[in-house]
Amino acid sequence: MPASDPDRGSRKRRIEREFGVPFPGEIRDEAEWTRTGLKSLPAGRIDWTALFGRNAPVVLDLGCGNGRFLIGSAVWRPDRNHLGVDILPLVIRYATRRANQRGLNNIRFAVSGGHELLAGHVAPASVSEIHCYHPQPYYEASEISKRLITPEFLLLVHRCLEPGGEFFLQTDNPGYWRYMREVVPVFFEFEERSRTWPDAPKGRTRREILALRRGLPVFRGHGRARRDLTPEQALARAAELPLPVFNADRALQALDDLERSDS
Ligand SMILES: C[S@@+](CC[C@H](N)C(=O)[O-])C[C@H]1O[C@@H](n2cnc3c(N)ncnc32)[C@H](O)[C@@H]1O
Repeated sequence: MPASDPDRGSRKRRIEREFGVPFPGEIRDEAEWTRTGLKSLPAGRIDWTALFGRNAPVVLDLGCGNGRFLIGSAVWRPDRNHLGVDILPLVIRYATRRANQRGLNNIRFAVSGGHELLAGHVAPASVSEIHCYHPQPYYEASEISKRLITPEFLLLVHRCLEPGGEFFLQTDNPGYWRYMREVVPVFFEFEERSRTWPDAPKGRTRREILALRRGLPVFRGHGRARRDLTPEQALARAAELPLPVFNADRALQALDDLERSDS
């Protein structure tokens, strides 16, 4: 571009940073912004082709927070459709605004619980990836029933993934991880990963970036749904497994305040 180009300034790359780490994608000119927020999820099972206006593999992020991982995936993998949900309207507003400003057409965000999305809106064998980064450990004894990762939830993830589909799970809470390691391999060929994901050496998500900056361990794993389990067997195994009643260690709660702060 010649130095005398009158549009040069307005075409400067607009990169945002969060805790010093670039947020994926670039803010486009307003004329290119899209609308990625859903007022609510469609009633009943989602028709993915109708929702995105095309047929493509679907990637879900449950408890997506500000959408950092999913927006990066949508920027770098334009050939996939993405849906992120979170129960907090505020974080969905942040995620939606950033996705809109990046002019993305292959991503949607909605306020919803992860369990509710899978149980009520996702047809069996209809999505190719399900991601769940740093699900809330819920420290108070009275909130234990809100923990997302349960045998019943894993059964739903197993049911919703298409053959060969993958589940990604990550936490910085050692108690939650011990529980996940016990139950997840029943339904998935689960591989643990000690290093950061290759696409995000400083962290895939806001929470991972914060945990790494604090020097906390981050536990990661992923795997394909076991195909040797019939739906009946999966149901029977789920009934035998323990519920997530681990001690989440309240000392780790300090990171939550940082997570809520502005970067
Ligand atoms: C520790 S934050 C992690 C956010 C993001 N995944 C990250 O790694 O930065 C946990 C998120 O899960 C959301 N959440 C809690 N319970 C949920 C549920 N049942 N379904 C969906 N989201 C949930 C919270 O609102 C919060 O945004």
